Amino acid sequence: MSGRHLAAEQDAVLGLESERVRRALGLMPSRKELPGWPSLVTMIGCPGSGKDTWISRYLPGMISISLDGLRGLCSPVGDEADQSVTDEAVTLGLNVARYLLEAGLSVVWNATNAEKPHRLDLLRLAAEMRARPVAVVLHPPLAICLERNSQRDPRPGLSGFARRVPAHVIARMHDEIGHSLGGLAGEGWHQLHFTSPRVVTGTAVDRVDAASGKPHQFVRL
Ligand SMILES: Nc1ncnc2c1ncn2[C@@H]1O[C@H](COP(=O)(O)OP(=O)(O)OP(=O)(O)O)[C@@H](O)[C@H]1O
Ligand SMILES: [Mg+2]
Repeated sequence: MSGRHLAAEQDAVLGLESERVRRALGLMPSRKELPGWPSLVTMIGCPGSGKDTWISRYLPGMISISLDGLRGLCSPVGDEADQSVTDEAVTLGLNVARYLLEAGLSVVWNATNAEKPHRLDLLRLAAEMRARPVAVVLHPPLAICLERNSQRDPRPGLSGFARRVPAHVIARMHDEIGHSLGGLAGEGWHQLHFTSPRVVTGTAVDRVDAASGKPHQFVRL
């Protein structure tokens, strides 16, 4: 098979996968949702857990509000790693999300969301906008997150912060998310999706029954 055909076939497979993921998350096939029923898809995962990769692979074309991107906008030196502007970046992002949800568009909120108060802010926003709050949890083993993080540039950028996150910060967030897993179902998410801890391609997702909090059996999307 020629390289061009192979690429086309891979594109088709990826298209199918993203279509199935969209359906599993209760999203419409296109960017435009039914008016009044947009979704606020919230990623939960520590640095290096693969959030950006998962979104670009499985929700291509969906509007993604990335905390890193917002930091880049708010940072006086335009540095996405600039942690000093996090509060402004979150405020800006919540306003952007509100605007889009109001317009009936679903959005992905791409941040670590390791801390419960941050998740509750998003649940409140969804309730206010009558949007469906959906959580997608990426929680690979800590060693994988640390290994991916170690591939990132350790040199401080213009803001003085490096793209590589200190290992102890990742460990703390990983721990925090790990401890939250059992309680997520009680937080008020309309749907909770857990990517398999060891799945490299990300095609398999565990679901948790929102009522009982018990994981369903492994579901391959
Ligand atoms: N499923 C995967 N299989 C193999 N490599 C992956 C996978 N997901 C992500 N990676 C790699 O791991 C690194 C980190 O992924 P990514 O940037 O998506 O993480 P992130 O959760 O968005 O991190 P951050 O919170 O720091 O923005 C990237 O180099 C990416 O290529
Ligand atoms: Mg990211």
